[in-house]
Amino acid sequence: MSNIVIIGAQWGDEGKGKIVDLLSEKADVVVRFQGGHNAGHTLVVQENEFKLSLLPSGIIRDSTMSVIGNGVVIDPFHLIKEIAEIENKGIKITPDKLIISENCFLILPIHKFIDQLREKKISSLKTKIGTTGRGIGPAYEDKVARRGIRIDDLKNKNIFLEKIKNIYDHHNIWITHHELKKINFEIDFEKLLKAYEVIKPFVKNSWRELDTFVEKRKNILFEGAQGTFLDIDFGTYPYVTSSNTIAGNAAIGSGVGPSKINYTIGITKAYTTRVGNGPFPTELDNEIGQKLALKGKEFGTVTGRKRRCGWFDAVLIKQAVKISGLSGLALTKLDVLDEFEEIKICIGYELEGIKINYLPICEFEQNRVKPIYLSLKGWKSKTLGTKTLSELPSEAIVFIQKIKEVVGCDIDIISTGPERNDTIFLKKIFN
Ligand code: GDP
Ligand code: IMO
Ligand code: MG
Repeated sequence: MSNIVIIGAQWGDEGKGKIVDLLSEKADVVVRFQGGHNAGHTLVVQENEFKLSLLPSGIIRDSTMSVIGNGVVIDPFHLIKEIAEIENKGIKITPDKLIISENCFLILPIHKFIDQLREKKISSLKTKIGTTGRGIGPAYEDKVARRGIRIDDLKNKNIFLEKIKNIYDHHNIWITHHELKKINFEIDFEKLLKAYEVIKPFVKNSWRELDTFVEKRKNILFEGAQGTFLDIDFGTYPYVTSSNTIAGNAAIGSGVGPSKINYTIGITKAYTTRVGNGPFPTELDNEIGQKLALKGKEFGTVTGRKRRCGWFDAVLIKQAVKISGLSGLALTKLDVLDEFEEIKICIGYELEGIKINYLPICEFEQNRVKPIYLSLKGWKSKTLGTKTLSELPSEAIVFIQKIKEVVGCDIDIISTGPERNDTIFLKKIFN
């Protein structure tokens, strides 16, 4: 394997950052291919914690090139802040370590405003998505509507002026309808031009840069953000993000063709979490759910919101395996289950009295499926920091075997703690 895609197999926050950081030891390049600073990827390296939103998780390694691919939407002000924060932790970020695609679309201040206005004032409680409020949806909407602004538009002040005026005029019709207050583009125009001067040295034609790495047979890791069930096509629509989060988008969001990708890894927790609204069949609105949240420290990196928690849902993971053609899984946060008497795995659903083995497309049905559980004995001992399979308690091995059996996919990696080294490798990932 040399070019590997890593994606979330659930609703995000599966531990992608940890796994990408870990595997980036052997990678020459790490590429983000979708999403924006709605992502929050946490890396723990010798007691140092790094929280990354836009920067690829290879950034803290000296010898790894990081690429923000064309599929990512960028808030330049956030990017500058994040670079400064990471540099404050002693990591130097120079143009020979970071490439930003010149055809990334921008998240403008007006996008953030629209996102928050919709969530706070306009949507009824029923239709609130529970977004991160960072302008992701409105930025992608403008991209598809062909009125978006790409980083390369900032090269030419006149072109940029024309485009920003057009986009603000467009949105002001809707904004004034709700807020009676027009948003002026002039201040944002000047601020964005200044921000561009800061990021300009990193801005390049990223597909060509990546092609040189492909030609030299370098190892490339594609780092997904969010997770399979937040995918705009395959997720629990409309409670999703505005990009494709599944493995297929790695090619589109980077310009590296699908035939160059040889392996795909899905990351899943040993239980399930979700932040924001939407269907969640195995959600536990009880003490067990609270215990999972407490032990797993389930608070969002980006918004600090409490994550909803529930048992491992093998139906979802099986679906994620199919949709992304996953080659293997990384099972994270096994240690969070250390103190549970009983551990459950959802192996199917019941919908109106009929057993099904997939999550229906229809939201109405997604809200009605009842999980069918397999109950296992908990191991009630410490797995935190375990580094070999043979050190795991037999009950934990049974749990892992069951997951493999029900999901029908190999487990390549088991994560037993937030640190890089708290990991069991069951497969050699890079040659
Ligand atoms: P991402 O968005 O998929 O990168 O995941 P987040 O970083 O948002 O959330 C995962 C959280 O779990 C982070 O705080 C990680 O440090 C932590 N984490 C990752 N793997 C493990 C693990 O195996 N055990 C425990 N206890 N924590 C983990
Ligand atoms: P990482 O990469 C978990 C969720 C939001 C909301 C929905 C839409 O850290 O796994 P958006 O702001 O994207 O329009 O919000 O998607 N969401 C995430 N949930 N992890 C993430 O990223 C997420 N990024 C977005 O909570 O429900
Ligand atoms: Mg996260």
